[in-house]
Amino acid sequence: MPASRRGSGSVILPTGQTLAIHTRTQDEEDLPHATKRTMADHLRKYESLFTLTPQRMRMIVEAFTETLELGLNKPNQIVPMIPTYVFGWPTGEETGDFLALDLGGTNLRVCLVTLQGAGKFEITQTKYRLTEEQKQDDGQKLFDFCAECLKTFVETNIGEGPGMLKAGQTLPLGFTFSYPCSQERIDHGELIRWTKGFGAPNTEGRDVAEMFKQSLAKYNLPIHLTALINDTTGTLIASHYVNPRTKIAVIFGTGCNAAYMEHVKGIPKIAHLGILDECGEEKDVDMAINCEWGAFDSFEHEHLPRTKYDAIVDETSNKPGEQAFEKLISGRYLGEILRLVICELIDEGVLFLGQNTYKLEKPYCLDTAFLSLMESDPTDELLMIIGIFTHFFALETTLAERQFFRALAKLIGRRAARLSSCGIAAIVNKMGYLEEGCSVGADGSLYNKYPGFPDRVHEGLQDIFGDKGRNIVTHHAEDGSGVGSAIIAAMTKIRKDAGLYAHV
Ligand code: GLC
Repeated sequence: MPASRRGSGSVILPTGQTLAIHTRTQDEEDLPHATKRTMADHLRKYESLFTLTPQRMRMIVEAFTETLELGLNKPNQIVPMIPTYVFGWPTGEETGDFLALDLGGTNLRVCLVTLQGAGKFEITQTKYRLTEEQKQDDGQKLFDFCAECLKTFVETNIGEGPGMLKAGQTLPLGFTFSYPCSQERIDHGELIRWTKGFGAPNTEGRDVAEMFKQSLAKYNLPIHLTALINDTTGTLIASHYVNPRTKIAVIFGTGCNAAYMEHVKGIPKIAHLGILDECGEEKDVDMAINCEWGAFDSFEHEHLPRTKYDAIVDETSNKPGEQAFEKLISGRYLGEILRLVICELIDEGVLFLGQNTYKLEKPYCLDTAFLSLMESDPTDELLMIIGIFTHFFALETTLAERQFFRALAKLIGRRAARLSSCGIAAIVNKMGYLEEGCSVGADGSLYNKYPGFPDRVHEGLQDIFGDKGRNIVTHHAEDGSGVGSAIIAAMTKIRKDAGLYAHV
């Protein structure tokens, strides 16, 4: 009888690729699985790749702080530090009915917000999921779709008649458009670049507020655009409205970004606008800044600890080189980073030998929500992880493998949270908030749904600042793109009626 070829192994091809080989016979039932020991060895390697030491974090904070300063000093920087023309904090006494439209990374949301004063409000909303095609289709079509949804919403929820919209009356609208736009006024915004996988042509470099107004006109809607807002700015204002200790807002969702309140005199690049207070001075005027910090370390890749998996995520994205910080943190990418690590181990012949892995080989098939589920699996057997792999990818796993996947998810999630702490720490440093402490309003699926994410951000802040890091506390923010957008529309109306900074 010839010698059996049964067993598993791998060979390195002359091209440098690894070819995994597994031979089995008809009477073998058990699949070959990596041993507990092998998985533990691999985990150690990934631990050193994905772990950020406090010292490394402090170096990142330093570079980050310099980058924020640069963006405020000079126009057109990589981290653009965008002046938003939202002046100071709300009083809580803003009132009225406002429409809010929110074009985020995943959904389109339409809201009717009634601000009742004394920090109270009522909100009615509908949500539409955006398709991948819509994200890549012509930009004007995307805004037409927004207008169409608004039309349906207005017809269903407002209409004309007693107590409703009177003939000839128009409703003010705050448009939360969560992509980097450079603004000259509050109702203007030139799209610098699409982020979060959007690629709609004929939009970058154009005034999206103007494009949206064209769509409003096409559908003959009784609506006027009062303010174009970033989700972080909306979150900053809405969170301060309900919790005045809020000084910074961060979104941890499909994308990652932050906003905070800056002194106008600390924004040298807009000195030429001559924004002065009633006494003709610059000193007491404040303006919210949309940092667009997702772009930190883009192109140069000098400061962030990128692994080869991060480099692949970047190179295979529709915007290579861009949003370097965001690609290590946000919900759009974390699942893909984990998938790439697993695929490498499949190629090396460590995982899933003898099983068909084609389902797992599809880019972006491993949603970040799976990482949350893996980390929160409460069972000893890790039944949730069994379910994910059998149901979605038709793959069988051993307990050792499942523990390994869970540990990997934890490494990737923890790195994201700790990097986020570096961004927050940079703003805290810049504004000198450490001693007195401050609240950070945070929102987005990663912050709200990923188990332990807020605790890891706090732990990161303490690693950077020591015990004083406890003075900086994140909390779940009030709805920025609905309520925040309405408050900003109201603040803008009050400001314009009073003739303050009317030119912006
Ligand atoms: C991306 C966008 C930014 C937005 C963030 C969170 O980073 O560029 O504008 O605030 O995602 O949605």
